[in-house]
Amino acid sequence: MDRVTAAGSQLPAYTPAVAEATREAYDRLAHVIPAIEWPVHAPYIAAINALKKQKNAVILAHNYMTPQIYHGVADFVGDSLQLAREAAKTDAKVIVQAGVHFMAETAKILSPDKTVLIPDPLAGCSLAASVTGADVRLLKQKYPGLPVVTYVNTSAEVKAESDICCTSSNAVAVVEDIARAWGVDQVIMIPDEYLAANVARQTAIRIIAWKGRCEVHERFTAAELRAYRASNPGIVILAHPECPPEVIDEADFAGSTAAMIGYVGTHRPARVVMVTECSMSDNVAAEYPDVEFVRPCNLCPHMKRITLEAILSALQNMEHEVTVDSTIASRARASVERMLAVTTRPARQAAA
Ligand code: 13P
Ligand code: SF4
Repeated sequence: MDRVTAAGSQLPAYTPAVAEATREAYDRLAHVIPAIEWPVHAPYIAAINALKKQKNAVILAHNYMTPQIYHGVADFVGDSLQLAREAAKTDAKVIVQAGVHFMAETAKILSPDKTVLIPDPLAGCSLAASVTGADVRLLKQKYPGLPVVTYVNTSAEVKAESDICCTSSNAVAVVEDIARAWGVDQVIMIPDEYLAANVARQTAIRIIAWKGRCEVHERFTAAELRAYRASNPGIVILAHPECPPEVIDEADFAGSTAAMIGYVGTHRPARVVMVTECSMSDNVAAEYPDVEFVRPCNLCPHMKRITLEAILSALQNMEHEVTVDSTIASRARASVERMLAVTTRPARQAAA
C-alpha cells in the first residue's frame, strides 16, 4: 500500500520492485545502514531517481549529506568548490542542491538559466549569517586599496561586494593570486576567522579577518584531539580548516572535505578520525570498509534539514526555487568566476 509523506505526497511502498531498483545503492550502503532501516529509505530513493529522469534534474550533494542521499540519489558529490564547478557545467534543466542555501545560491549565480531548487529553504549557515553586504562596504572604506577575499559560505549580496571568492580547498592559492594581481601584501578575508588564521600560517600575505565562525567546527578542542590519540594509538587525525588553529596543530592533516576524503583514499589508514561534520565518516566508511572510523563528530543542523523526503517533495512540487536579483548575481558571478579561474579540481561522479 502507498504511504503519504509529511509533505502530503504519495510515496510508493517497499515492494520487490523497489528493492530491485535500489539494490545497487543498498550494496554500497550495507556497511553503514542497518538492513532494518532500508525499507524506510528505499521507496524515497527509487521515487527520487525516477523523478530526476522525468524532470531532467541533477542532484548536487555536499559531502555532509546523509549516506542515503550521498550514495542513494546524488549525481555529483563533493566539497563546495567541486559543487560550484559542477553547477557551472551541468546540462540538466533543474539543479537540486542537496546542501545549504549559500550553495544553492552559488549554483544559481553560475547557472542563471537553470531552475535551482533547495529542498529546505531554511538550511542556512552560521558563517553566511555572520556578515552582510553593508559590512563589506564598511570594510572596504576602512581598508581602501585592499582586495576582499570571501569564503563561498556567504550570501550572494556579500559575494557581489567582494573581489574574489575562495573555498577551503583553494584559499591559500586565491589569497596569493589576488595579492599578486593587486600588487599588495595584505588582503581582507571574510567571514571565517579560523579559516583566515589557518591560511595566514601558510602564506606571507598578511590577512585582515572577520569574526565569523562555523558553529560545527568551532566546538572541537585541542584537548579532545589529544584524547582521541591517547585512547586510539596510531590513529590518523584529519581536520577541516574551519577548526580553531590549535585544533589544526593537533591533526595529522588539514584540508577541505574533498581533501580529507582524498587522504583516506590515498593513504588507507587503518584507523582514522575526521574532525568535521558527522555524515562525512559514514559516507567515506561506506566506500572504504577496510578503514576503521572513530566517530566523535558534530552535526550541522542546517545540512541535516536536507532529507530524502524533502528532496522528493522538492522534485514533485518543483518547490523552493532559489532566485538571485540579476544585478547582484552578475557582480557575485564575477567574484566566483575569478575564483574558478584560479584552481581546478573536478567533482566526483556519484555512483548513484
Ligand atoms: P568544504 O566542503 O568546501 O570543505 O566546506 C565545508 C563546509 O562547511 C561547507 O559548509
Ligand atoms: Fe555552515 Fe559550518 Fe554547517 Fe558548513 S558545517 S553549513 S560552515 S554551519
